[in-house]
Parts: sequence; C-alpha cells; structure tokens
Amino acid sequence: MSNYPTPHIDAAPGDFAPTVLMPGDPMRSKHIALNYLDGAELVNDVRGVQGYTGYYKGKRVSVMASGMGQPAVGIYSYELFNFFGVENIIRVGSCGSLSPDLHLRDIILAMGACTNGNFASQYELPGTFCPTADFGLLCAAVKSCEEAGIRYKVGNILASDVFYDDSASTLKWAKMGVLGVEMESAALYCTAARAGKRALSICAVSDSLVNDESMTADERERNLTELFSVSLETAIRI
Ligand code: HPA
Repeated sequence: MSNYPTPHIDAAPGDFAPTVLMPGDPMRSKHIALNYLDGAELVNDVRGVQGYTGYYKGKRVSVMASGMGQPAVGIYSYELFNFFGVENIIRVGSCGSLSPDLHLRDIILAMGACTNGNFASQYELPGTFCPTADFGLLCAAVKSCEEAGIRYKVGNILASDVFYDDSASTLKWAKMGVLGVEMESAALYCTAARAGKRALSICAVSDSLVNDESMTADERERNLTELFSVSLETAIRI
C-alpha cells in the first residue's frame, strides 16, 4: 500500500475505515456524513468527490462518492481496495425500476450485476465473468431490511453505460427478471473480485421505466432515508 496519495484520492490508508459506503453523488456522501456519522472528518476532496470518516453507533465507517458510471466507480473502488486498505464497499445507489412491483424508495439488493459495458474486458474472460455481490454483505443487508421492516427485493441489476439509450433496449433486461437499472454495480463487483475484497450494491428505486414514477434531484440526495439507514446498519453488522 505504498501507492498513495493517488491521482484521485489525497489521503493516507488509515484515513479510511475498513468499510466505505459509496453513493454516486458527492452531495449524498456529504449528506450521509453530516447527518448520520458522529465526528465526521473530511478525508478526501479531490475533484469535489468528498470522502468522510466518522462513527455510526460507535463503529468507524467511511463514506465517499463514486461519481457516475462504471469508469468512475472502477477508479475509486480500485484505489480504495488496493491502496487504502479498504475491505468492504457498499454502494448506496439509486436506480430505475424494471419491475412493476417495485416502487419509489423500495430497495434492491443486487445479488448479481449484468452490464452492457466493456469494463470486464480487461480481465480477458470475454463474456463469461458473472459479477456478484459478497454473500456475507448481502445476508447482512437482508437482515437489516427485515429488522427495519423495509420493502426490498434481492436479485439482478443492470449496470448500463448509457442513461439516454438511443436503442431504447433496456426493457429487454426486464424479460430476464432484472429488477433495476443503474450505472455502477458490475464494475464495482469486478474490482472487488479482482482485489479479493467484498462489495454490495444497495439501491433505492428513484424512478421507474415501467410505472410512471420519479423523484426530483433533491429527493434523491436527501430523502432516501431507508436507503441510508439500511446501508449504515449493514456496515455495522459485518
Ligand atoms: N437509468 C440508469 N441509471 C439510473 C436510472 C436509470 O433510469 N435511475 C437511476 N439511476
């Protein structure tokens, strides 16, 4: 772990807790740190990608944003796992629902992450590597949802490289039972697998591709309280 500071994280390894919560949005990272962590200290601010370390119910936890998309989460998760001693990354995301049974604020625990992107081609296992969550983190998140009485589903998610899809082809993933679409999980699961570390994506539904429902940007930043609490409770269970 001699490769720090990195081009994207100006910190030292001990600055991060072993578990990092990772929203996409830097403002969501700041919101979680300032509203849920005790004694939160800013440990990274390169490019405004705020990383904080503090305490949740007495356990040291970090929160740092990934930015949007697989290249971005690929960079931050790689550096945290490989240069900063981080063991667990829990994505605290939002997603579009592909299931008529999933409504705003419902939680998807992404057991598997499909992708239409090319991130995994670097591992030279063309079309064959299946990015999956860490089973222990997944079990901890299920327990946290059950305990809090939060509506959730466990299943597949799609990490898409395009938000505005010209081919309008996202719905074909729904035919395969994929529950939601976001833009990060497959790359996160790949970097965790390659580093021998653990990852899980916990995503709240922020809009629906099959029902006419959506949240404002402000609601996505602040109002996903079930998402924040389940993610934090998962972090202290592991
Ligand atoms: N597509 C991709 N990513 C998303 C979406 C979506 O509809 N909603 C939230 N993140």
